[in-house]
Amino acid sequence: MAKDLGVGIIGCGNISTTYFSLSPLFRGLKVLACADLNRSAAELRAEEYGVKAQSIEELLQNDEIDVVVNLTIPAAHFSVSKSILEAGKHVYSEKPLVLTLQEGEELRRLAQAKNLSVGCAPDTFLGGSHQLARQYIDDGKVGRITSGTCHVMSPGMEMWHPNPGFFFLEGGGPILDLGPYYVANLINLIGPVKRVGALTSMANPTRTVTSQPLNGQVIPVETPTNIHALLEFVNGATITLSASWDVWSHRHANMELYGTEGSIYVPDPNFFGGVVDASGRDKDIKPLETWDHPFGIANQESPQGARANYRTAGLADMAIALTEGRDARCSLDRSLHGIDVMTSILKSGEEGRFIELTTTCTQPAALGIEEARSLLR
Ligand SMILES: NC(=O)c1ccc[n+]([C@@H]2O[C@H](COP(=O)([O-])OP(=O)(O)OC[C@H]3O[C@@H](n4cnc5c(N)ncnc54)[C@H](O)[C@@H]3O)[C@@H](O)[C@H]2O)c1
Repeated sequence: MAKDLGVGIIGCGNISTTYFSLSPLFRGLKVLACADLNRSAAELRAEEYGVKAQSIEELLQNDEIDVVVNLTIPAAHFSVSKSILEAGKHVYSEKPLVLTLQEGEELRRLAQAKNLSVGCAPDTFLGGSHQLARQYIDDGKVGRITSGTCHVMSPGMEMWHPNPGFFFLEGGGPILDLGPYYVANLINLIGPVKRVGALTSMANPTRTVTSQPLNGQVIPVETPTNIHALLEFVNGATITLSASWDVWSHRHANMELYGTEGSIYVPDPNFFGGVVDASGRDKDIKPLETWDHPFGIANQESPQGARANYRTAGLADMAIALTEGRDARCSLDRSLHGIDVMTSILKSGEEGRFIELTTTCTQPAALGIEEARSLLR
């Protein structure tokens, strides 16, 4: 068997604990070192998870590291990913990959010139529930998907995240922060998007943090926090996507897709599990029979109950794709198409017109039970 890829992590904040704690579940990966602009953040994680804390430069020069995971804030994603490629290492980034298409194209050129790969979260569409929905749609059970609705709406992030300022700056906002989960799953289930239109707004120009340790701090809002978008897919489907941090409560479902033979109700694409419901022409909505998909099995307690969390699956898939010379599911092409969708939604909101997308991608290969198992140790 090929040796494990040596993994380095740059960015040791909130989400890094998920990568440190879940990566040992997966075959083909070994986290060796971490770094952060804030050295003490890297030292804390290094101590917690038994890896080496290095400076960013030392980590980039570390010969044992093949792939670097970029868990910095969105505004730093491009420059950090670029420096990783320049150092001759593969990149796997948290979402959003970059903030503009131009940045993404530059990463693509650099990666191609150096024969390196770039992958990007989200990987939640690899979850057991989303793959069950994928199989149901692929089997033609709801016919051709013609339309649907997606809603991701809440009061915001400043009540739970310890350092929420970046969510309200360029590169944040609900569409670039939570939109990636929805767009990636729509690409998984339906394929690429052709054009988008949107209305965007913000309820307040500032927000007051209520989480610790910054409780009481007033932070500026520099990006829309309320977005209503229309997406036309290459296959002809038309989908409404609303993403907002200006909503206290609502009764919309996360994702409903309507086909020529029935409807399918997909759980929150921010998570790996959840119940998938569907109906046929008889309008009798029932949960789909669960299957034995490893990325649907609850493995974590949360305030909402036990849930499945297999974040890092996309990195593991990329590691094996690299050794097998196949397409990685969380690929640069798909995440850059997602960036095109989301930045075009924001542009449409600014300019008041529909925007034709300039990128496209293929649907990722479905991830069945056996292949998902093969990603695990
Ligand atoms: N927090 C979550 O639940 C969550 C979930 C999924 C995805 N994400 C994504 O993960 C990324 C990080 O989010 P987070 O919540 O961990 O943020 P965070 O602010 O908690 O952590 C970011 C870390 O990156 C470091 N950093 C910033 N710029 C840097 C640079 N140029 N070089 C090196 N280090 C740098 C910061 O010092 C900080 O320690 C974001 O893109 C976010 O969208 C977060």
